[in-house]
Amino acid sequence: MCAFSTIALETGSSCYSERVPQVIAPGRAVRGRIQVPGDKSISHRYAILAALADGRSTIANYAPGADCQSTLGCLAGLGVAIERDAGPDGRLAMTGRGLGGLRPPVAPLDCGNSGTTMRLLSGVLAAHPFTTTLFGDASLSRRPMRRVIAPLTEMGARFEAAPGDRPPLVVHGGHLHTLHFQPDVPSAQVKSAVLLAGLHVPGTTSVTEPAVTRDHTERALAAFGAPPAVEGRRVSVTGGRRLEARDLRVPGDISSAAFPAVAAAALPGSDVTIDGVGLNPSRAAILDLLRRFGALVDAQVTEQGAGEPVGEIRVRHGRLVAVEILPEEVPEIIDELPVLAALATFGGGVTVSGAGELRVKESDRISALVGGLRAMGADAEERPDGFTIRPTRPLTGGAVDAHGDHRLAMAFAIAALGATGPTTIAGAEVVAVSYPGFFTDLDHLRA
Ligand code: S3P
Repeated sequence: MCAFSTIALETGSSCYSERVPQVIAPGRAVRGRIQVPGDKSISHRYAILAALADGRSTIANYAPGADCQSTLGCLAGLGVAIERDAGPDGRLAMTGRGLGGLRPPVAPLDCGNSGTTMRLLSGVLAAHPFTTTLFGDASLSRRPMRRVIAPLTEMGARFEAAPGDRPPLVVHGGHLHTLHFQPDVPSAQVKSAVLLAGLHVPGTTSVTEPAVTRDHTERALAAFGAPPAVEGRRVSVTGGRRLEARDLRVPGDISSAAFPAVAAAALPGSDVTIDGVGLNPSRAAILDLLRRFGALVDAQVTEQGAGEPVGEIRVRHGRLVAVEILPEEVPEIIDELPVLAALATFGGGVTVSGAGELRVKESDRISALVGGLRAMGADAEERPDGFTIRPTRPLTGGAVDAHGDHRLAMAFAIAALGATGPTTIAGAEVVAVSYPGFFTDLDHLRA
């Protein structure tokens, strides 16, 4: 029925290496129906748990972006057999090696641009009794890893890192003990790293978060037959429980859907529907924010995937107003802040505070975002933990740089639709990290 074949895995950093500028002309309206690529966060988790499960799992609609290919490349380097269906929805088949059964890699593992790959795999590898080196591209090499090194060291692993606890990371895994961890920073990656390590350790390991973060790891563990215990902000796993192979489908990525959704919210006369999108409540705050900005948003869950709600989003333009985003809202909207900044340039304006985490994403997303929007004519101001955009004038367009950051490249492209002249985005090929077909989809939606 389907033609699975062993895949040649490209690592993340090599997939989009040629710098290609993209010119975005002003837009009038966006209209139509699209699907966005499979969810990046869920794809990483399904691949990692399939690698640790007993037996053969299949994953349909696996995210096509470079980040999730980096995770597959690393898992292949750890001895996991991965095949890809020749069909259009990118179905993967993975033969798990069982809990704690990964093989020592023969070479360092390339995490490309993907912080999620490096942090989640740190947790898994901390529990394997061998040494692994994890490295990444220039952007990932600047990102802080102390947040995973500290708890995993407390559990009994040993790490070597570059100054400032930056990658590359050398993980000396071993026999761990349990931990009841209370991170200072709300981070789904940190929570997941500790829970993935805890899966391998007899007894109970828990993470009590300072704020709610995306719960895909919890849902994915349940899908693979090992549901964690969740009480309020505390999540616990019991180590040693085997994972069962599964046939799963990844829903569309709501963080990718945010880009066409914001274009529709911003441009008068727009009406865009996005099908098959993940509507997990811990990711769906963007929908309420679009409503607060003035857009008309309908969203309905049409099916419950393997524990992940999936549905349809329809966004139409409405008169835009000013919005203030408060610190307690930030963890649930962290990946959408660049595109909401773009929306603010169309008329409403925005103030964001308590978002210092943006400075340690794929770029310093406060400084690079504000710098880029100002270069396009925005009245934008940077603060240590956020930014303000005042809706004083339409953008002019101009020349900006994506700073090696996929979400900035796409946010600038959406802002450019509202400018009076064209915008050139240097390094725009980086959209391939999460949404390789972004520019094609945007062209398709232009009325
Ligand atoms: C992610 C968690 C978030 C998010 C990132 C993906 C995940 O990072 O910004 O894009 O898949 O767990 P933090 O855990 O650093 O907040």
